Amino acid sequence: MCGIVAYVGPKQAYPILIKGLRRLEYRGYDSAGICMLNDVLNIYKCRGKVADLEEFVKDKHLTGTIGMAHTRWATHGEPNVVNAHPHFSENKSVAIIHNGIIENYASLRSELINRGYHFSSDTDTEVLVHLIEDILIHEKVPLEEAVRIALNQVIGAYAIVVLSKKSPDKIIAARKGSPLVVGIGKEEFFVASDATPIIEYTNNVVFLNDGEIAIIKRNKMLRIKTVGNKEETPYIQKLELSLSAIEKGGYDHFMLKEIFEQPRSIRDSMRGRLHMDQGLVTLGGIRDYEQKLLNAKRIIISACGTSWHAGLVGEYLLEDLARIPVEVEYSSEFRYRNPVLSEDDVVIVISQSGETADTLAAIELAKAKGATVLGICNVVGSSIARATDGGVYTHAGPEIGVASTKAFTAQVAVLTLLALLLAQRKGTIPVSRFRTILGELNNIPVKVEQVLKLNNQVKEIANLYKDVTNSLYLGRGYNFPVALEGALKLKEISYIHAEGYPAAEMKHGPIALIDEQMPVIVIATRKGSYEKVISNIQEVKARKGKIIAIINEGDVAVKKLADQYIEIPETEEMLVPMLATVPLQLLSYYIAVIRGCNVDQPRNLAKSVTVE
Ligand code: G6P
Repeated sequence: MCGIVAYVGPKQAYPILIKGLRRLEYRGYDSAGICMLNDVLNIYKCRGKVADLEEFVKDKHLTGTIGMAHTRWATHGEPNVVNAHPHFSENKSVAIIHNGIIENYASLRSELINRGYHFSSDTDTEVLVHLIEDILIHEKVPLEEAVRIALNQVIGAYAIVVLSKKSPDKIIAARKGSPLVVGIGKEEFFVASDATPIIEYTNNVVFLNDGEIAIIKRNKMLRIKTVGNKEETPYIQKLELSLSAIEKGGYDHFMLKEIFEQPRSIRDSMRGRLHMDQGLVTLGGIRDYEQKLLNAKRIIISACGTSWHAGLVGEYLLEDLARIPVEVEYSSEFRYRNPVLSEDDVVIVISQSGETADTLAAIELAKAKGATVLGICNVVGSSIARATDGGVYTHAGPEIGVASTKAFTAQVAVLTLLALLLAQRKGTIPVSRFRTILGELNNIPVKVEQVLKLNNQVKEIANLYKDVTNSLYLGRGYNFPVALEGALKLKEISYIHAEGYPAAEMKHGPIALIDEQMPVIVIATRKGSYEKVISNIQEVKARKGKIIAIINEGDVAVKKLADQYIEIPETEEMLVPMLATVPLQLLSYYIAVIRGCNVDQPRNLAKSVTVE
């Protein structure tokens, strides 16, 4: 949800800012803008992507060693030039970029209009910049103090960067609810929504906490103050993030690269946690909460999007193996529906980005009601990782394609480890069974490698179905979340309507949609309700639907019925999601590519949803 980047130092700012914006473009890409601070503030902005901005500013005045830039995902006001950031104050002496939502913008706006301010955009952001200017004029305080006073009047979420022509060597940045990182280089500073624009130059970073303001002056040490006016000592961390991890590495799209990274990302998420030789699982980040989990009356999993689908697999795993009752909640529903929660409940939130606003709010709610909150996050140091009591990182590496792929399988791998750990401690499965599942889990990365070899076959199937307008994904048991995830992938990136359904529920509605035009993708692996799924396939065939089946190698029965099939290696039923999801990711990817869609930046979506 909007990407922010800023720079001050000895170098020319423009190349750093534009490169940074390209790295942050996954956060939003409907319009972009840049502000260079020389004697005046020069703002250039346009509708469209960062590449459009680059084209637009080609002949503009862009020299300077201090500046900021923004890529937008519209909340208030349609994506157009006036609503794009940066925004000027009334007298053009202050400029701002913002990620988040100012909830009380309407009342602030009318107050400012009464005081003679003019608004040129429909955004909530513009109130903040006028307010800062107003404070500067009337209270004659330094820029950082004006920002601090203004932020005390604001309700909502923000990550902001403010520049003023009267403070030509100063960047003021602040956060509440939306992420912001300050990079500290040699005589230079960077500010960004995440570390990807920074790591090329320095790995020394400070993650701002909610309610903190960073005061950055050329050639001076970084200072941090709270909005309550308390001086804080910056906590400088060393980031371990490599540049190659955030580049495409020869693949056409980040999504394809990330699909192909899954053997590694699953392996990395299990490394040091799955101990085959000792027949043991350890999860250091939740060690202190193991007893709490073992005694939990209930586990509630809260997440959004693909992470919610991983949560569903987690529910099946935890109930199946550890015999603990589990509920899976959409964070956006959970946070607003007054759930019954107690100190005996453990809430597990799952999030790739660690920044999803609804999931953050779910954490607050759960904590307020006394529950222990654990996290499964991919981004180290993210807001969710910091807000939870404890947790386990997925080591999937940076995921940049907007459609989540490797984060999902890594989340499922971690949830499997968690369920196995709790099952072992509780003694809810026999030792021999535990060992068998552990061994199979250990083999999953190799089996994902085998699935990836089906790439060309999946591409051919994609060619056959590139023009469909609707599709249905069916699965039962552990394969039901796979059906949901397969359908989500297709609609996200190819804009084909897709529905995921429990196979048996099809007859309660979706069956009415089936005709000879309708592809039905069925996950029909041999374990679980295999025979029942075959009956569901028969029901589709009887209505002339087309069947694309995900089957196990050597399957005979489904093969005969399917129009196309993809054979994946056999594994334990509970581990199938990590294999069966992969060909569905590829199928969506190739259909979207053939249709000419922008796979890494699908329309209307953003990777990190920092607004509710
Ligand atoms: C957005 C992304 C999805 C993601 C969801 C939850 O909608 O486009 O890919 O699954 O947010 O994000 P999180 O970072 O919390 O997993």
